[in-house]
Amino acid sequence: MDFKSYIAEKIAVAAEGDKEAILALIEKPKDEAMGDAAFPCFSLSRVLRKAPNMIAADLSEKIASDDVIGEVRAVGGYLNFFFNKKLFVSELAEKIIKEGDSYGKSTDGEGKNVVIDFSSPNIVKPFHVGHLFSTAVGNSLSRIYDFLGYKVEKLNYLGDWGTQFGKVITAYKMWGDKEIVEKDPINELNKLYVRFHEEAEKDSSLEDRARSEFHLLETGDEENYGLWNWFREVSIEEFKKVYDKMGITFDSYNGEAFFAKRTDSIVGELKEKNLLTLSEGAYIVEFPDMPPSIVLKQDGSTIYTTRDLASAEYRANTYNFDKNIYVVGLPQSLHFKQIFAILEKLGKDYAKNCTHVGFGTVKFATGAMSTRSGNVVLLETVLSEAINKTAEIMRANGNSEEDIADAANKVGIGAIFYTFLKNSREKDIIFDWDDILDFNGESGPYVQYSYARGKSVMRKAEITDYSGASFDYDITPEEYSLCKLLSEFTDTVRAASEKNEPFYINRYVTNVAKAFNKFYNTTPILKGEESVMKARLLITEATTICIKNALALLGINTVERM
Ligand code: ARG
Repeated sequence: MDFKSYIAEKIAVAAEGDKEAILALIEKPKDEAMGDAAFPCFSLSRVLRKAPNMIAADLSEKIASDDVIGEVRAVGGYLNFFFNKKLFVSELAEKIIKEGDSYGKSTDGEGKNVVIDFSSPNIVKPFHVGHLFSTAVGNSLSRIYDFLGYKVEKLNYLGDWGTQFGKVITAYKMWGDKEIVEKDPINELNKLYVRFHEEAEKDSSLEDRARSEFHLLETGDEENYGLWNWFREVSIEEFKKVYDKMGITFDSYNGEAFFAKRTDSIVGELKEKNLLTLSEGAYIVEFPDMPPSIVLKQDGSTIYTTRDLASAEYRANTYNFDKNIYVVGLPQSLHFKQIFAILEKLGKDYAKNCTHVGFGTVKFATGAMSTRSGNVVLLETVLSEAINKTAEIMRANGNSEEDIADAANKVGIGAIFYTFLKNSREKDIIFDWDDILDFNGESGPYVQYSYARGKSVMRKAEITDYSGASFDYDITPEEYSLCKLLSEFTDTVRAASEKNEPFYINRYVTNVAKAFNKFYNTTPILKGEESVMKARLLITEATTICIKNALALLGINTVERM
């Protein structure tokens, strides 16, 4: 039963209006005590030549309560509807259980392609928690779009080209050791990079050497190319191990190096359209409303911007995207504005479908992170700390070693994802372990615990056959609030996709967990008549399905026991 549509039909008949127009106006009352659906009568007042409150009063008399509508009330200019609770709850629980893993999915995106550029770490520079932010948001968005029926391409646009390779090649040639790099590539390459900067402060000739090493690399020098390729391969291998732990895969690792070789055509177009101006040794594009953007060095070598232009064009041709999303920190806002503006100037239709999805910075008690000083908190450290701390807490809570072994990874990593997706992404994050792993606060573990609690109730009941379940009892307010929330899942996912804000789902699933715990604490699920017990177990199961599906959209796995 589609309650809203049913109500719209009734109003349309009573007011002699258009059903679709009425349906579009039906809202959810702010306060649950005001009902389940509300129709603002203002829209009818011109046609009916009556004050809205009069219309509401009239309609409330014409529309009788029935099997579907429990009650109709006129409140001011609004017509408030209360659903038949038993019907609502029983139909919803049945639907959720029938749909299972698919509950909440939609086909909104059928036939549409979404490209998501996320994580995109830099080789030789560390994979730090800023990249983790991008990883968490991008991973979640890719799951959200997929859930809504879009075809999603997950792109890891590696920072695998640029002058930093001249530096690290210089450092490697001077102080590097093959075996040491092989053992722990990401950290060792980063150490060499950091050492380069320390030594270059004392000896400025190192910068010149780095420039010429990079030039050699660009012009195809065999030794430097070999080193670069090796650095790249061992780094990707390491990244993949970490992504694997987080349950993340990519469709492509084509990064800046791949596109550095493919800039000729876009640069050609820029020249043809007379968009390039030579200024202080570089080719720039000027804009009326923002600073100019350097697009090319005078010697023709490419920079970050050139490669991003080439890759946007490539994405348009390869994926024919409806949306091209860049999940990159806010400090790069201007860069993306410039890129999109240049594409506009070039007359690229797809420019309007490119979006920068920015996010804030991650702060620790000790201050923001920096790449060069080496004073960074590395991704792997963060993940393993989360896992170890989770295991400790679970041990203290009296969980068995078996449960800990299964759960610590999922809960630990889930707690990190939850933290990154907790607030509107543009807000900064203060990284605080006590909050992240607060099993009683607004945290990943809290939601996961609520899920496990539901599962535990179901195990205790030992019922596999729910026939005979009956909702013919006084549905409690807690039960009803919970079910109302469960019914709002798809709308929430849609809203999250419209704003590219996974936190909508995070807040939603947290509210579901809270509502479930209220229900659990106020309602004796396993006591009372069997038909009622079965009905409440169905609500419990429906809740676990909804939590699981929602957490999956955040990249978080559930655990059966914790
Ligand atoms: N590697 C870049 C960084 O760490 C992010 C790349 C984002 N993607 C892009 N197409 N520019 O800052």
